[in-house]
Amino acid sequence: MVRINLFNAIIGTLAIVAMSVTAKASSTLPVSTDALTSAADLDDDGQPLRYINSVYGDEDDDDYSPSELESRAALRRTKHHHRHSKHRTSSSRKLFTIGPALTDTLWAKKVLITWYASHDLLNPQCGNGGGDWQPENSSHIGAVVKHWTDGPQCGEFVKLCNQNANNRCVLVRVIDKCAGCGENQVDLTKSAFKKLSPSGTLSEGRIHGLQMYRSKQPNPWDLALFGPKVLAG
Ligand SMILES: *[C@@H]1O[C@H](CO)[C@@H](O)[C@H](O)[C@H]1NC(C)=O
Repeated sequence: MVRINLFNAIIGTLAIVAMSVTAKASSTLPVSTDALTSAADLDDDGQPLRYINSVYGDEDDDDYSPSELESRAALRRTKHHHRHSKHRTSSSRKLFTIGPALTDTLWAKKVLITWYASHDLLNPQCGNGGGDWQPENSSHIGAVVKHWTDGPQCGEFVKLCNQNANNRCVLVRVIDKCAGCGENQVDLTKSAFKKLSPSGTLSEGRIHGLQMYRSKQPNPWDLALFGPKVLAG
């Protein structure tokens, strides 16, 4: 009994020593702890990833009436996620580029784009982060066939460019699977498709011959356009 008690006492003392060592270590090394917790939220260049929520995603989408746009703008103001530019108007956000960036690398040369909408967008197969976010016509997301050899994976960003549409390029995030698609096809939201169509409308239906690039994560990251960073759950 005595031995056991002594043993327990020793173990107890060791535990207290260990605890105080741990406490000391963490109190003198707060930086390393912070670095660990925020590592997941650094962008591809190692800079802190900043999130914004534009609420209405691609505001060029013509689904919304002026009053709907106004109520969405009001919602956005109450959410107050625009930390750096409170008065940034939606039209100042550039949601396409002319040509790819120098850091974009060619992934596929002849990609077909199509579009899908409404309830087909809901509950994407890559997940919606378990939150209340659902993709909308005004999101910049896409779906690809399940077994596309070397194709984009769940959550990855691709930049699609159409040389026949003034070389416009749009960054989209792949978050869904497309049963009726083939390889080298990306099924897009209406807003992303329209930016890449020569007519600026949906009338083409399907457009061949786009270039697809691997692209860096956007920073700032618009949750309305791309959804939550972690999709599973
Ligand atoms: C999304 O697009 C579809 C097809 O054009 C349309 O019927 C639907 O009303 C749109 N959804 C919203 C919320 O505007």
